[in-house]
Amino acid sequence: MVDTMTKMNVVILAAGQGKRMNSKLPKVLHQVGNKPMLERVISTALMLKPENLIIIYGHGGEVVKSAINKTFPNNDFVWIFQDKQLGTGHALKCALPHINNDGATLVLYGDVPLISIYTLQHMQELYDGSLVMLTAVLDNPSGYGRVVRDADFQIKCIVEEKDTSQSEKFINEVNTGFYILPNQYLDEWLNTLVNDNSQGEYYLTDIIAKAYKQNIEIRYYTAEHNYEIMGVNNKLQLEYLERMHQCKLAESLLGSGATLLDKSRIDIRGKITCGMDCVIDINCIFEGSVILGDNVVIGAGCILKNVIISNDVVIKPYSILEDAKIGPNSQIGPYARIRPGTELTGGAHIGNFVEIKNSNIGLNSKVNHLTYIGDTDIGSGVNVGAGSVTCNYDGKNKFRTVIENNSFIGSGTMLVAPVTISEGSVIGAGSTITKTTLANELTVSRARQVTVKGWLSRHKKD
Ligand code: UD1
Ligand code: MG
Repeated sequence: MVDTMTKMNVVILAAGQGKRMNSKLPKVLHQVGNKPMLERVISTALMLKPENLIIIYGHGGEVVKSAINKTFPNNDFVWIFQDKQLGTGHALKCALPHINNDGATLVLYGDVPLISIYTLQHMQELYDGSLVMLTAVLDNPSGYGRVVRDADFQIKCIVEEKDTSQSEKFINEVNTGFYILPNQYLDEWLNTLVNDNSQGEYYLTDIIAKAYKQNIEIRYYTAEHNYEIMGVNNKLQLEYLERMHQCKLAESLLGSGATLLDKSRIDIRGKITCGMDCVIDINCIFEGSVILGDNVVIGAGCILKNVIISNDVVIKPYSILEDAKIGPNSQIGPYARIRPGTELTGGAHIGNFVEIKNSNIGLNSKVNHLTYIGDTDIGSGVNVGAGSVTCNYDGKNKFRTVIENNSFIGSGTMLVAPVTISEGSVIGAGSTITKTTLANELTVSRARQVTVKGWLSRHKKD
């Protein structure tokens, strides 16, 4: 095997317009698994440590370039503008000035996002200085170029769908468009392509027949999954690949030991790792980096983004958590919202319709119903009654609230920050607290209840 690791050029064809997407966004920037398709292809290509990464772009070029440069700062990708899309052969020809005479070139596509590193490495292993192509066997090969073989089963040429004869139409081995090509022949092959075919294009596929005529061995590899070689031309295909991608991630999660109630009803738009015996109910969305400890239960319809969840935590249905750390044995939800900067030490109960932002909740503290806690440090053993609010914003600035250990906040309390509830305080329901309370005492701050005698009878007379 030739050491291709150090001599591989990668060319990504990405000049197509994607008219059928019916979108202003260039096709290759549409996302699969929360990442633009082209970004996925580039990330996979970079794993091969290519000598050179060349992107052939056209439509919406500047938008594509700036999006990609943002994701890969300080990259040294070579961007080549293909003004008119004259065919895949012409597209690769545009890259010739940046391809050395030795080594090999791997051809990838900006709109075929799920090609796996595993498949590319296998192709690379097969490469010995001749030519490797990736083929697939499809039940319905229509639309694809067909792989035509000779009497000795050697690959002889590719015939595009529109140029196939009646009998060639029945061939179900197709060309995927992925190749590893020996650079030494590229000049000659690409400069002698002609466009006398039904589409008037310079077909890259014609180089296969040229190699065959020159007795250059044509090796082939077949991808493990057909979705790896599928491209996106419309939203239907984009949705299909999204599902395939999600299914693959769900299966690997199941493989790692997580229990999913339905592998087709989970969306992983980032990375998730699960400890032992985690259970994830249907319709949950995971974004960014999500780390679950052991015995974590996630109820239906939860959305978790950039969170670390410790062991034995239960997150009940329809809760939303973002940029937060949840300590062991905590219970959250249903319908709770945990916003960025929140940390629960452990054993906490955060109940329904509770919003917590940028706050620390100490050990075994409870905030169970209809409450807003913002910019607050709550100690351990605290109970916050239903419908309480930390009034953290005066319209200009945010202020912090401190609730010390073992305090009890009666229902409907307004805590006007900055304010401290001292250790062991009990606050009478309906209070509005603006000053530090006395530790281990009851504080009540509300209008006294009065009876206005005779009011009702006077009112009725009017
Ligand atoms: C190509 C193959 C076909 C194969 C199929 C697999 C050719 C001639 N045919 O057909 O055998 O079965 O892929 O999907 O190669 N592009 C450019 N510049 C161009 C033309 C195309 O960048 O001038 C890019 C497109 O953006 C697209 C890709 O190359 O991503 C494929 O081009 P397309 O014309 O769609 O090829 P197919 O007709 O699908
Ligand atoms: Mg075409």
